[in-house]
Amino acid sequence: MSTLRLTSIVCLWLGSGAVWAGTEPGAAAGAELSGGDTTVFDTSHNAFSLSARNLEEKHRAAFYVGHSFFNENWLAATATVSSRDGLGPLFVARACSACHVRDGRGAPPDDNLPPEMMAIRISLPGRGPDGGPKPDPVYGGQIQTHALPGIKPEAVVLATYQEIGGNYGDGTPYTLRQPRYLITDLGYGPLASNVVVSPLVAPAVIGLGLLEAVPERTLRTLAGRPGLPDGIAGKVNLVWDAARRREVVGRFGWKAEQPSVRQQCAMAFNGDMGLTTSLFPRENYTEAESICRSLPSGGNPEVSDEIFDAVVLYASTLAVPARRNVTNEMVVHGEQLFKQLNCAVCHVPRLETGKLPGFPELSHQLIRPYTDLLVHDLGEGLSDHRPVFAASGRDWRTAPLWGIGLVGSVNEHTFFLHDGRARDLSEAILWHGGEAESARERFRNLSVQERTALVRFLESL
Ligand code: HEC
Ligand code: HEC
Repeated sequence: MSTLRLTSIVCLWLGSGAVWAGTEPGAAAGAELSGGDTTVFDTSHNAFSLSARNLEEKHRAAFYVGHSFFNENWLAATATVSSRDGLGPLFVARACSACHVRDGRGAPPDDNLPPEMMAIRISLPGRGPDGGPKPDPVYGGQIQTHALPGIKPEAVVLATYQEIGGNYGDGTPYTLRQPRYLITDLGYGPLASNVVVSPLVAPAVIGLGLLEAVPERTLRTLAGRPGLPDGIAGKVNLVWDAARRREVVGRFGWKAEQPSVRQQCAMAFNGDMGLTTSLFPRENYTEAESICRSLPSGGNPEVSDEIFDAVVLYASTLAVPARRNVTNEMVVHGEQLFKQLNCAVCHVPRLETGKLPGFPELSHQLIRPYTDLLVHDLGEGLSDHRPVFAASGRDWRTAPLWGIGLVGSVNEHTFFLHDGRARDLSEAILWHGGEAESARERFRNLSVQERTALVRFLESL
């Protein structure tokens, strides 16, 4: 692997097809190429920050611009015009990378601390204007924990955890931690009494253009698969496409709430950082927070189309790193168990992308994302009680597992699931319920050697 590592240093950020010309390691034809021809070979803490290996020459400049605007802090608007201002007045973070650290995954807070790399979504029962969650009349759809000087933040959020004990089939005990999020110090009066709170940790942003390129008919076919075992029945989430002004299949976010990388990024600029784009030109404060209007705006929109496009291209073309140890005996055994336990029914190992207009490098690729991009009922234990379009509180999008074994090297933690409650991969599996309850029970009843093999397989992804 040493030559691979060397190559990846040379291609830092711009994994180049021209530079990379080695033979593929491992015997299982292409098994390590998680992102098809876009796959990069890096296991360092930069493993999620490289561009698609086959990135077109003409996309490179925009990738660099996107990289810069994703990683650097945005500033409050002032009298002088700047391309990087307009932050807030209410916001959660100053940069995309504050949550998507090194293009990877955010961490949840420790006990009794506020979340720093999460979105705290809120809503009321019923449907909002576009059929999505109904916002709180005062605080909107997400709690903004920071504000510019002179403006009150919306609230302070604190996490607490309760330990829950359990046993593996062989008697070995384990503990899981059930989180609770408290919203206090409200800046603009009470929250609606029936508000529901959904804490979501920032996921890694690798391979997203590939997921966008998976044809809608593939997702509909996966949703229509007859006779699945264990009562598994995924469905597409149908969400609002703000640009096309119609309902389409959702793909991004923990509940497949966003239809495209573009809309997801516009939502992030707006909801997480208080920045307007041509897609979402309204600021993120409500009438009750109209004091925010007294501050200068960073332009109309605050994020120019050129910068917005570059950030979307960046988030679409960050590469998925190759698998490691694909022929290792334990890993191969774990892969068999993954299939035998029916994990692969939801975490579908291979998909093919169709044609993504403007992106030949992402089109017609055989990818290994380990997801069906469908939402599944994972049971009451994981429910946030907050429906999002067709996804109920218990429904979550099958999390793509590609790159999951590198979260430790990139982000220096191994917290998993939508709110980071799982402290390692085994805990993530033990939280599965609902449609995945049978799979979880099979895992719980494996021998310690088999459990280790399954985890080693996940670590190879
Ligand atoms: C406050 C933390 C935070 C900040 C800042 C943030 N994000 Fe996110 N990001 C999230 C969370 C949480 C999700 C999951 C959202 C959901 O499930 O609806 C997410 C999801 C995404 C996704 C979809 C990933 C997937 O696998 O579906 C993309 C793309 C993304 N963010 C891009 C951005 C960009 C671009 C910025 C900066 C403009 C940004 N984010 C800023 C927290 C953040
Ligand atoms: C019914 C569909 C389904 C089955 C079966 C299933 N999963 Fe999942 N898996 C999901 C969903 C949905 C999530 C996201 C849940 C969440 O974040 O709350 C997930 C999350 C995960 C995660 C955490 C991913 C992350 O990014 O944090 C791991 C690891 C995982 N599953 C492994 C497995 C393994 C191993 C099995 C088999 C024992 C399995 N899953 C069976 C649907 C499924």
